[in-house]
Amino acid sequence: MTLEIHPLLAQRRSPRAIDPNRPVPREVTQRLLEAARWAPSSGNSQPWRFVVVDAPDALARAREALHPGNQRWANRAPLLLLICANPQDDGDINGQPLYLFDCGLAAENLLLQGTAEGLVVHPMAGWDENIMRTAMGVPDPYRVVVVIAVGYPGRLEDLPEDLQKRETAPRARKPLSELTHYNGW
Ligand SMILES: Cc1cc2nc3c(=O)[nH]c(=O)nc-3n(C[C@H](O)[C@H](O)[C@H](O)COP(=O)(O)O)c2cc1C
Repeated sequence: MTLEIHPLLAQRRSPRAIDPNRPVPREVTQRLLEAARWAPSSGNSQPWRFVVVDAPDALARAREALHPGNQRWANRAPLLLLICANPQDDGDINGQPLYLFDCGLAAENLLLQGTAEGLVVHPMAGWDENIMRTAMGVPDPYRVVVVIAVGYPGRLEDLPEDLQKRETAPRARKPLSELTHYNGW
């Protein structure tokens, strides 16, 4: 890391090695959701709704909705968290819907709380929304915004080989100089 940032931000990452045999206690899950709940939102609209998936039958149904690439590792997660939202519960600004932005902030709160708790917390966009909504009974007009795989760290050698390489690769980002304009674009 070029510049020092808060250790929690520096440590947060999206690992895939998860221990399938160590469940996440409900009180830990509650703290993750509590962290998400305290995220800022436009007009304090709090559009996020959470679906906790930690029972074997529900997990089996939710896992069906994951894209195959995610099933390869996320099927070992003992907990899947869905962040859902009703787009009508939030406004838009300059034609840009805000519910996605607000849910993103809630998700990052959750990821950071999970990081602080020593958990693997890995957000996923790779799932079929219709299958997920049906599997979890998410009613209209709620949308599933993100699915987060959660668990305690597992053994690297239990991952498929290509994912082991990705797991240990250094995290990379574009340089700030490529991203930033001062006093105008
Ligand atoms: C909205 C969103 C969707 C993502 N979807 C997936 C996914 O479907 N599968 C996956 O393995 N990782 C997914 N990721 C994780 C990203 O690949 C990861 O955050 C990125 O490579 C940066 O790595 P880091 O989180 O370890 O810093 C997603 C992340 C975000 C924020």
